[in-house]
Amino acid sequence: MDRRDFIRLVGGGGVAAAATTATVSCAPAGADPRAAWNNPGAGETDIRRKALSFAILAPNPHNMQPWMADLRTPGEVTLYVDRTRLLPVTDPFNRQIVIGFGGVLAYFQMALRQFGQAVEQTVFPDGEARPLLDDRPIARIRLLGDLQAPPDPLFTQLLSRRTDRGPYADKAVDAAAFANLLASPNVQGTLDPGRVERLKALVYEGARIESHTPAAHQESVERTFIGARDVAAHPWGISLDQPVMSAMNAAGILTKTRMATPGTTAFNESLKFLKTAADTARGFVWITTPGDSRLDQIAAGESYARLSLLAASHGLVMHPWSQGLQEYATQKPVYDALHKALAPDGGRIQMLARIGYPKARLRPAPRRGLAAQILRT
Ligand SMILES: Cc1cc2nc3c(=O)[nH]c(=O)nc-3n(C[C@H](O)[C@H](O)[C@H](O)COP(=O)(O)O)c2cc1C
Repeated sequence: MDRRDFIRLVGGGGVAAAATTATVSCAPAGADPRAAWNNPGAGETDIRRKALSFAILAPNPHNMQPWMADLRTPGEVTLYVDRTRLLPVTDPFNRQIVIGFGGVLAYFQMALRQFGQAVEQTVFPDGEARPLLDDRPIARIRLLGDLQAPPDPLFTQLLSRRTDRGPYADKAVDAAAFANLLASPNVQGTLDPGRVERLKALVYEGARIESHTPAAHQESVERTFIGARDVAAHPWGISLDQPVMSAMNAAGILTKTRMATPGTTAFNESLKFLKTAADTARGFVWITTPGDSRLDQIAAGESYARLSLLAASHGLVMHPWSQGLQEYATQKPVYDALHKALAPDGGRIQMLARIGYPKARLRPAPRRGLAAQILRT
């Protein structure tokens, strides 16, 4: 690997983009931060725990995994948010965190259906927490037993789905597959070359603005872990633990301080990496809800989680670009431009992702593991 590739790999990509670009595997010191992906639920006799072992693999913002499950009442699961795992700068109203809960709920329901359980789900059973989440439950799920319905075909994609931040293959998205994706609730998209070019520029601009908004950029830097040891100790956030990253970290070239500092190689290369990623978008998909209630956000998360599994079933991968949809002041021009272009008749764009075929098979992102997410048994 020459120095150019080396630095490109290490660039980080708006901190996050390089996180999953290499398929090189390495054995981290200590616990395996990806253990949750190996045979989830094996050995669990409580069906709630078994299904939760799959639910925790859902896509979620910055991989913060803030879900906590209360299992005290037999046959019931109540989900709460761990408020130490929020994104106060880039997600000031917890909108993205709630979208993440929508994903977990979608996965949980899919797993329970797989195990023959009918369920009754109540979202925000004690009222919608606004403008910020509080200690009230996010959702309560009751298991009703004996489901007479076939398994959800998307369940088979749960273990293979990845968020792919790398460059995509030079291959057009199959039109029939794309039409299938657009039949999903709340989902729209485009493969039109002119619109795709415009969206590439807008998503990159959102990322560029974020990296030059110190508080927002710092929030990502603080949630980034570099090297196998650091990632094993923090199986959440953005993990840069390919061996090359560990080496660059040991050499002092790739550090959190450098990532946070404009002008350093780590900072500049990460933006270049994002530009390349945006430029290889083969299409875009977005999820819009009529309003921005907590229920809208949950629905958007369910839609995104299912969409990413459906994409996987067609061999496609996705990469959300949330910067331009965020609420902090410096994003307003991109936010407005995106809404004007993609939601001219109104509505809130909740997710926007590029789509394409992967160039490489990625390792899964770390997970904290079920034990860390049980509040009470
Ligand atoms: C609401 C939401 C927003 C997200 N925004 C971004 C984003 O802006 N950039 C990005 O690279 N990934 C984004 N992601 C993907 C997460 O970072 C990813 O799901 C998480 O790191 C776990 O990785 P995995 O999906 O491969 O399991 C987002 C996911 C969700 C649910």
